[in-house]
Amino acid sequence: MSDNDPILLESGIRDVSFGKAVKVVQPANLYGCTIGDGCFVGPFVEIQKDVTIGDRTKIQSHSFICELVSIGSDCFVGHGVMFVNDTFSIGGPARGRRELWRATKIGDRVSIGSNATIMPVDICSDVVIGAGAVVTKPITKPGIYAGVPARFIRSATSDQSSPTKRS
Ligand SMILES: CC(C)(COP(=O)(O)OP(=O)(O)OC[C@H]1O[C@@H](n2cnc3c(N)ncnc32)[C@H](O)[C@@H]1OP(=O)(O)O)[C@@H](O)C(=O)NCCC(=O)NCCS
Repeated sequence: MSDNDPILLESGIRDVSFGKAVKVVQPANLYGCTIGDGCFVGPFVEIQKDVTIGDRTKIQSHSFICELVSIGSDCFVGHGVMFVNDTFSIGGPARGRRELWRATKIGDRVSIGSNATIMPVDICSDVVIGAGAVVTKPITKPGIYAGVPARFIRSATSDQSSPTKRS
């Protein structure tokens, strides 16, 4: 082996607590997390340790769910949704100083549009986040939020917070 050979690590599924009737499309990199009954996880998703995902929540392809995130039941995480735990509060990455990381808690029946970024904030139940939004502040009132930074655009109608789409 030469110095120019990279160290190759395998992605995969390790130490995950799965509920009943979960579907995962591989390849996915899931480790040390808890995934509730009836969830769906699309391809190219990473879910890190200590994340919890509630029952019947769907995580579409290419999303990244980092440590310190919890997501409730009946949620929909669109394609390429990014969660954040390190806000670069010291002007750059925390570089292992986990005390600088911050948590995100998502309620139930929250739908997050494709390519949204969720900074470490809490989002209450019954919220829709638009595609491409960047959520920078806690959301405490049900409704539809979109834009950069995400702003309330209108109240939701009752059937809007329980999407059924899969990959
Ligand atoms: C946010 C969203 C739910 C709003 O839907 P809606 O209520 O039907 O909204 P409208 O299309 O009537 O738009 C209302 C206003 O919000 C704006 N808007 C809509 N979606 C937006 C978005 N994602 N980002 C920024 N602005 C948005 C519109 O331009 C419009 O602005 P205007 O009033 O100045 O013209 C929807 O546009 C969206 O982004 N859905 C996510 C879909 C998705 O990612 N699905 C994943 C699976 S494919």
